Amino acid sequence: MKTPTLLRRIFIHLPCFLIRSLVDSSPLSSSLNPLPVTCEVGKQAVLPCSWKSRLGEVNLPTCYVQWENPPETVFEKQGERQFEAEAFEGRLEVPKDKLESGNCSLIIHDVQMLDTGRYESFMVVDGVKSTKTRVFIQSVRLSVIDYKSHQTRAPGQDLVLDLHTSQSMRVVFMNRTRSEWAVLWMREDGDNQRFQKHPLREELVMTGLTPADEGTYKVVDKHGLAVNTVQLSVKEGLSLPGTSQRQENRELTGGASKNFSSALLFLSVLVTVFQRKYNL
Ligand SMILES: *[C@@H]1O[C@H](CO)[C@@H](O)[C@H](O)[C@H]1NC(C)=O
Ligand SMILES: *[C@@H]1O[C@H](CO)[C@@H](O)[C@H](O)[C@H]1NC(C)=O
Ligand SMILES: *[C@@H]1O[C@H](CO)[C@@H](O)[C@H](O)[C@H]1NC(C)=O
Repeated sequence: MKTPTLLRRIFIHLPCFLIRSLVDSSPLSSSLNPLPVTCEVGKQAVLPCSWKSRLGEVNLPTCYVQWENPPETVFEKQGERQFEAEAFEGRLEVPKDKLESGNCSLIIHDVQMLDTGRYESFMVVDGVKSTKTRVFIQSVRLSVIDYKSHQTRAPGQDLVLDLHTSQSMRVVFMNRTRSEWAVLWMREDGDNQRFQKHPLREELVMTGLTPADEGTYKVVDKHGLAVNTVQLSVKEGLSLPGTSQRQENRELTGGASKNFSSALLFLSVLVTVFQRKYNL
């Protein structure tokens, strides 16, 4: 009875150990359980990565990190050399000092809806006989969240529509009785009668709302993905902002809109002065 048990133990433990040590350096172990990271579109996401916790206190002559969105490589950094995939151009960063001290976290600036997905990091280290070996470090699942809100205004009030990112390209609108989307604003066309863009911020302002403006506004990116969806109601007899209960339903931008419109007023005065001065 004793021998078979012992044998069985060895038999069970050995492969387990083997599998474990194999799995440890392959993405499979953690990709089953990637670290979840959630980020709102337009914000900055940090995909965590610590190579010291995987490789220990080794001294790497040059730190060489790779980030993949399998099967594609999205980012690589080796000393001063750096690569970024086209879809992420100008948006990715692994700070050099952090990388050298063991932090290989990937910073994604201005997160886009399409950035949603699984990411894996690797360190490329010297193997035997001057070969390079890739060591899997971290798997992360990034979820990018779009904005949705209900907003209520009285006729004559303004609506500030947040674009959230410079990669928002269009605003489409559907009123209550229509069943199709109409394009109301396109970035390449600039301002129009209905929408004026803040000169610096990613915001559009609609002034002098009327009941005909009621409906759903969607800010979409170049892939047609919704970045911000606003259901607008325009109702008579709203009490003054600040005393209204509806205020609570509003997004933070509701408060900023007042400051924004005064900033806009100030700017339009400036522009007028400028135009007068230079006879534009
Ligand atoms: C690693 O660096 C990122 C930014 O590059 C930072 O947000 C994060 O807190 C750092 N992690 C640790 C453990 O220091
Ligand atoms: C919705 O849009 C259509 C077409 O622009 C218009 O004819 C209709 O009056 C609108 N409905 C409302 C309730 O504003
Ligand atoms: C608006 O501006 C005032 C002062 O100029 C400031 O105290 C307030 O926090 C601002 N509100 C928002 C929502 O930005």
